[in-house]
Amino acid sequence: MEVQKMKDFMNPTELEKKHTPVIERVGTSGEVMVRVGLVPHPMEEAHHIMWIELYRNKELVEQKNLEVGKPAEAIFEIPDLKPEDILMAREECNIHGLWESV
Ligand SMILES: [Fe+2]
Repeated sequence: MEVQKMKDFMNPTELEKKHTPVIERVGTSGEVMVRVGLVPHPMEEAHHIMWIELYRNKELVEQKNLEVGKPAEAIFEIPDLKPEDILMAREECNIHGLWESV
């Protein structure tokens, strides 16, 4: 499946706004919050985000499965996370496919 990304950061489409993972480092303890997306994605049976994956330096940290009816977000713990580590997130929408962002 082809991975989709936001093409123009200054002018995202509605589809891109709803599906781009937003990665946020919480404090300094290695907690990372990933939300989908810039505007919240629906979490209904007919249309929802199935899972979120977080990668550190291109290596998968973990895949978290999401539940219908709960927010489209997940918290990851990377105890030895360093400021220079590069984070990337992927998510899959049951209708709109695979998306990623850094
Ligand atoms: Fe979607």
